[in-house]
Amino acid sequence: MTAITSAARAQDRPAADRALAGVAALWWGVALIGQWLFVAYVAAFYGGAAVGGDFERWNEVLVGGYVRGGTLGNVVLAAHLALAVVITLGGPLQMVPQIRARALPFHRWNGRLYMLVALIISLAGLYMVWTRGTAGGTAMRVGISLNGVLIIAAGALAWRYVRAGDIAAHRRWALRTFMLVSGVWFFRVGLMAWILANQGPALIGDDFDGPFVRFWAFGCYLAPLAMLEIYLRAGSGAGRSAKFAAAGLLLVVTAGVGVGILGAAMGMWLPRVS
Ligand code: HEM
Repeated sequence: MTAITSAARAQDRPAADRALAGVAALWWGVALIGQWLFVAYVAAFYGGAAVGGDFERWNEVLVGGYVRGGTLGNVVLAAHLALAVVITLGGPLQMVPQIRARALPFHRWNGRLYMLVALIISLAGLYMVWTRGTAGGTAMRVGISLNGVLIIAAGALAWRYVRAGDIAAHRRWALRTFMLVSGVWFFRVGLMAWILANQGPALIGDDFDGPFVRFWAFGCYLAPLAMLEIYLRAGSGAGRSAKFAAAGLLLVVTAGVGVGILGAAMGMWLPRVS
């Protein structure tokens, strides 16, 4: 009886692994579409205005944006926006196993570029927050600053582990870096999913400092990090039910992310470029 049960478990095991891998691939596909839509918006809106020499147009969106005569801050802001395109385009490609298997030099060079850009964009972001400010109140400033510091720390660890040849630890820290780098994107996607779910800007506050904004200023990267930990633990030796549970949770999260992407694209990004 025990032998039959173990044999059945052994047969079932791959199904749980397949479910987890399948949902993770679905999550990746949905995130890729959403992140590249964000890239298209940043390039078209900020790039378009810059090419036309109309930098003041950036301030239709930004609170601490372009300042006439403020050269250093403007250069830092322009670098931040240009690097946002580079990092958001290249990030999702690092997770494709086929690229790692067949084009390892691409993975290595794209990875080095990603780490370097993550460092520069975070330092630029910290400078921007504390010199020019951002939308929302103190929670937003502290939340995004902690995000920047964590990006630098996680990126450094991902780098250190790959240099030491510990690929398993490198994978874990590179994935954590990706979730942290995606924090600003999750902020927009989560905000729009929340607004759609509530059929209006509930708990956002007139000055963009309401309870939801204060919570999401930290949640936009801590919640994805928590989901990643669940996924990693389920993938490394967890039982069949834990794997199915993690796959189910990730599926629900993926649906929410999909709704948020639609909301952000229709409500924020497309109207600014059309
Ligand atoms: C690492 C990935 C990041 C990306 C891809 C990114 C991308 C962007 C983009 C596209 C904008 C323009 C806002 C919009 O049109 O929606 C922006 C603005 C801004 N970012 Fe980042 N960012 C990142 C990280 C950070 C970090 C870590 C900080 C702070 C430590 C930061 C601080 C800012 C600030 C202050 C603004 C201006 C906001 C305003 O004036 O209202 N960013 N960022």
